[in-house]
Amino acid sequence: MEERRGGVLVVGAGIAGLMAALKLAPMNVTVLCKTRLGKGSATGWAQGGIAAAIGKDDSPSLHAIDTRRAGAGISDEKIVEILTRDAPARIEELLELGAAFDRDDSGELMLGREAAHQRRRIVKAGGDATGHAILRTLIEAVAAHPSIDVVENVTAADLIVENGIVRGVYGCDNATNATIACTADATVLATGGIGRLYRYTTNPVQATGDGIAMAARAGALLADMEFVQFHPTALAIGRDPMPLVTEAVRGEGAVLVNDLGDRFMLDVHPDAELGPRDVVARAIFEQLQRGRTVGLDARAAIGAHFPQEFPTVFGFCVSAGIDPRVQNIPVAPAAHYHMGGIAVDEWGRTTLEGLWSCGESSATGVHGANRLASNSLLEALVYGSRVATNVAGAGLPSRPTGRLEYRMRPAGADGQAQAVSDLRNVMYTNAGLVRHERGLRVALARIEELGAAFGDAGNELRNLLVVGRLIVDAALARSESRGSHFRSDYAQSDEALAKRSFTRLGSLA
Ligand code: SIN
Repeated sequence: MEERRGGVLVVGAGIAGLMAALKLAPMNVTVLCKTRLGKGSATGWAQGGIAAAIGKDDSPSLHAIDTRRAGAGISDEKIVEILTRDAPARIEELLELGAAFDRDDSGELMLGREAAHQRRRIVKAGGDATGHAILRTLIEAVAAHPSIDVVENVTAADLIVENGIVRGVYGCDNATNATIACTADATVLATGGIGRLYRYTTNPVQATGDGIAMAARAGALLADMEFVQFHPTALAIGRDPMPLVTEAVRGEGAVLVNDLGDRFMLDVHPDAELGPRDVVARAIFEQLQRGRTVGLDARAAIGAHFPQEFPTVFGFCVSAGIDPRVQNIPVAPAAHYHMGGIAVDEWGRTTLEGLWSCGESSATGVHGANRLASNSLLEALVYGSRVATNVAGAGLPSRPTGRLEYRMRPAGADGQAQAVSDLRNVMYTNAGLVRHERGLRVALARIEELGAAFGDAGNELRNLLVVGRLIVDAALARSESRGSHFRSDYAQSDEALAKRSFTRLGSLA
């Protein structure tokens, strides 16, 4: 087995991992990337932007109010305060690194509007290409740091744990299937989300919950696993993953209509299309369940400006033969973001010694039961940075590991692709936007069957089964509806349950 030794190992090369790596330099840092650098992370696909209270009429406390309101009563107040307070400084840092955020004619940063924000506070780049621009900026900065070593095309498979201390990860070289032991004095999991678990998702295929599954198997505490956010408007043109139609399109006035021409959101929420994401997503889902189709009508609000304002979305539409200047955009909800993950404190420390986490794989508690639009890139920046501060200050003892042994599971065993497909269908139908005990038990039974048949095979399915199980268990345990977690058998919120959930693999706490 090949062994690589680094001071700090960062697993994941999206905004959270790269920010942490940059802040850790000049320490010796290895970044493990599942694909080529710049590919495969959700960051590069992010359209909306980064929320930060930098407008003259705005303040971190207003941003905090909106974040908590979206979180449906269970956000961690201290973490929200840190997030919203640190946001402007993190934007400033990105500007110093060369991020080309959009500016108005007077040179001021242009601030976009998104649902459930009281103010215009979304910093964007290239109209709707914010994630791509940030990723490029961070990759250039990382390349300029000789102490950061990027190892591409390696999938992390399991944590290396010795005497209860995390000492790195075992990885699989995607090209050769060879096992690589990456040992380190500190390990940071920034592996992103879980969208691949669902039939319809806006996430890249690499979003298989690797970090959560690895940490869970090693005994880490997890939090808020039941809360999966569905984006209301993924482009329904039969692609998997589904391209996003950024919420900013609705922010600029586009409206949702069904195929009968009914603007149904007017009857659902006082803020109509700009209501909370879970409310809008469920309303669209309900239309689809009734056999209707749903379109986003941007003709009056954006019209001829569409290509300039939303070049990424425009490109997706045109590739499917749709011209949003004159036609409605077909949309459907899709799994977009997981509020749950590896439980961390305000410095990104997990419950396992030697292990930190940041970005979507972590659960800081900031998003509560539902994330406010454009708080995800922000959280990755703020907590990527805080993890680095904490790791750098931890005075890590440099201890070589003992003898390492590991058996990599074979990728691509017979029937595995079909099993992933089954799992994705079962999760979307039974543990998606609308849940019920009956359906959740169906999902659980199928997860158990697939686990019995395939549990030890391949990293992707193995990880998806662990995360699926954790989500379904937590969804069953929360017998109420709150934020993104809607139970048709418990349609109301229960104030007695207004708290975060914590769990370990195999035992709900
Ligand atoms: C979007 O552009 O609608 C996505 C932004 C986000 O998920 O925060």
